Amino acid sequence: MEKFIIKNNGPLFGRVRVNGAKNAVLPIMAATLLTEGECYLENVPNLKDVRAMKEVITHFGGVFKDISVDEKYIQISKIITSEAPYDLVQKMRASFFVMGPLLAKTGVAKISLPGGCAIGARPVDLHLKGFAALGATITQGQGFIEARAEKLIGATIYLDFPSVGATENIMMAATLAEGETIIENAAEEPEIIDLSNFLNKMGANVRGAGTDTIRIEGVEKLKGTRHEIIPDRIETGTFMIAAAITKGNIMVENVVPTHIKPIIAKLIECGAKLEIGEDTIRVDASDIGNSVDLTTLPYPGFPTDMQAQFMALMTILDGTSVINETVFENRFMHISELVRLGADIRIEGHSAIVSGVNGLEGTEVVATDLRAGAALVLAGLAAKGETHVNSIFHIDRGYEDLEIKLNSLGANIKRVEVAEIIHD
Ligand code: UD1
Repeated sequence: MEKFIIKNNGPLFGRVRVNGAKNAVLPIMAATLLTEGECYLENVPNLKDVRAMKEVITHFGGVFKDISVDEKYIQISKIITSEAPYDLVQKMRASFFVMGPLLAKTGVAKISLPGGCAIGARPVDLHLKGFAALGATITQGQGFIEARAEKLIGATIYLDFPSVGATENIMMAATLAEGETIIENAAEEPEIIDLSNFLNKMGANVRGAGTDTIRIEGVEKLKGTRHEIIPDRIETGTFMIAAAITKGNIMVENVVPTHIKPIIAKLIECGAKLEIGEDTIRVDASDIGNSVDLTTLPYPGFPTDMQAQFMALMTILDGTSVINETVFENRFMHISELVRLGADIRIEGHSAIVSGVNGLEGTEVVATDLRAGAALVLAGLAAKGETHVNSIFHIDRGYEDLEIKLNSLGANIKRVEVAEIIHD
């Protein structure tokens, strides 16, 4: 077990480079199951979740090579099993992404029910409804789900909610189905466009990704290809908040500004001055102060994955800010930890009411999930004294070298080993 010890260090300054997007690379790695060909992925972040997905793909017969620090070669000449056991899947919900490709490629996929961040019930019913519409027979047993189909047949699928994972899983399954599949009320996230670009380079015929209607004309076979993963918009936003919460001035590099419009808008509302380049954003937060309200929504709305980090900032803004969380039903676990640091936050149903305080005070806190962990690190940058963030394995799932990058901007964060306490 490791934890971060964060000492308050004043405003952060400098430049920081964002890595490839976790939520783009994971489904793309799963999509390599659709071909026997050689795939080369560039701008792959070195994350715990990527290593977990590598384990999953290796389990199915995949061979990996590191070409360079962030370039990976993957080839799955033959899928050797259609089953993913619990010990593989429980580490990460995104391992469920293999279901669509496996079903399409081998006609059967038996997957243990997924684990991942504890942010609500997170069912997979929309994924399964999609597979069933494509002609698969779904069986749910003790802790596993099986989908079986001799041949998938294209269909029109309306998603009750624009689920990112369901859109991606159905999209991948449909690439090898017979005829046309239409996904209506599809998720529109940039990561969906990245997956669609990858699939099309493999020879698939996917149109409309990035809109609410995606059309996939099934093809016989897909081939290997080369692809560069898009930059991580949540890592980008996290560094923008690091500038804001310390009233610093940071240039964030390797970003796609159009992917983070709501974060830009909310930071400007808080009083930050932003300089937006082609693939850079400078955040000058010397005059930040105004409270803001926000509502999380599917893309292009404010991302739920930035809610906790923005809440950390709100704790020290002037006046009262309100967050309305509409995407996940239980994504306020960071609140009790922020309160331990001296924040004044009240929960009312799906809303959090954050009254700005004069300052936070460091103490021991626990990361309960990935983004909650990032929020606590950000709060620790602004808190007086020492903040100890425990359970940082959650943070390592989605941020590469977070403490190293923040330290290069002037932060004072140490990663230390914690002796495990055993209670009799
Ligand atoms: C993805 C992201 C995650 C992000 C989330 C929302 C990856 C690897 N993870 O997760 O970081 O927080 O999008 O932007 O890309 N739902 C159902 N039934 C389903 C599927 C989802 O009811 O079958 C509900 C969920 O419980 C949740 C909402 O839909 O309330 C959004 O979930 P979804 O968009 O599917 O998120 P994920 O794909 O799991």
